[in-house]
Amino acid sequence: MTRIGIIVGSTRPGRNAEKVAAWVGEAAAARQDAQFELVDLAGHALPHLDEAFPPAMGRYQNEHTRRWADTVASFDGFVIVTPEYNHSVPGVLKTALDYVYAEWNNKAVGFVSYGSAGGTRAVEHLRQIAAELQMADVRQQVSLSLMTDFENFSVFKPAEHHVGALNALLDQVVAWSEALSPLRKPIAA
Ligand SMILES: Cc1cc2nc3c(=O)[nH]c(=O)nc-3n(C[C@H](O)[C@H](O)[C@H](O)COP(=O)(O)O)c2cc1C
Repeated sequence: MTRIGIIVGSTRPGRNAEKVAAWVGEAAAARQDAQFELVDLAGHALPHLDEAFPPAMGRYQNEHTRRWADTVASFDGFVIVTPEYNHSVPGVLKTALDYVYAEWNNKAVGFVSYGSAGGTRAVEHLRQIAAELQMADVRQQVSLSLMTDFENFSVFKPAEHHVGALNALLDQVVAWSEALSPLRKPIAA
């Protein structure tokens, strides 16, 4: 069955990411068309990139890299839950994306973001990064406002209309993950 990873893009103590990812996970759990699993970056402590070779060469030397590569490789597509930090992507998420390469290729990705402007500036940057990683980014996105979808910027109360957008995003990620499967080759050990 198609496997979709829901990446929790912040590791900050007290992060909102956990609540947003749980909301995505709940909607995903109601579906029968794919298996969904949370991928918490807090559980993958990756240092500043410490591999000697560019990730596209696939010559991973460190245990933490191999473990992360195996995790990424085990999915057919992704939903990335991301806040916006300084109009861009949180460093921890960028590092996680940078660490490996082939494991991301030919997989679909959709974005659920949040911030004062819905996290949209982070997502625009993520779309550029996804292109370089040879990922297919779906059009539908969910943009949550820190002003109206959270109380006091921390209690998550998403407006009802986001549910439809989230389901459409999940539809697109599953469809494109399946459609791209002939392009995905087993990665050499
Ligand atoms: C380092 C940092 C930079 C931030 N920059 C922005 C920003 O540029 N735009 C924005 O809308 N919110 C910004 N925020 C607010 C975050 O969107 C908000 O704190 C959000 O809850 C962070 O996600 P997290 O709680 O999951 O870590 C920033 C927060 C941090 C910690």
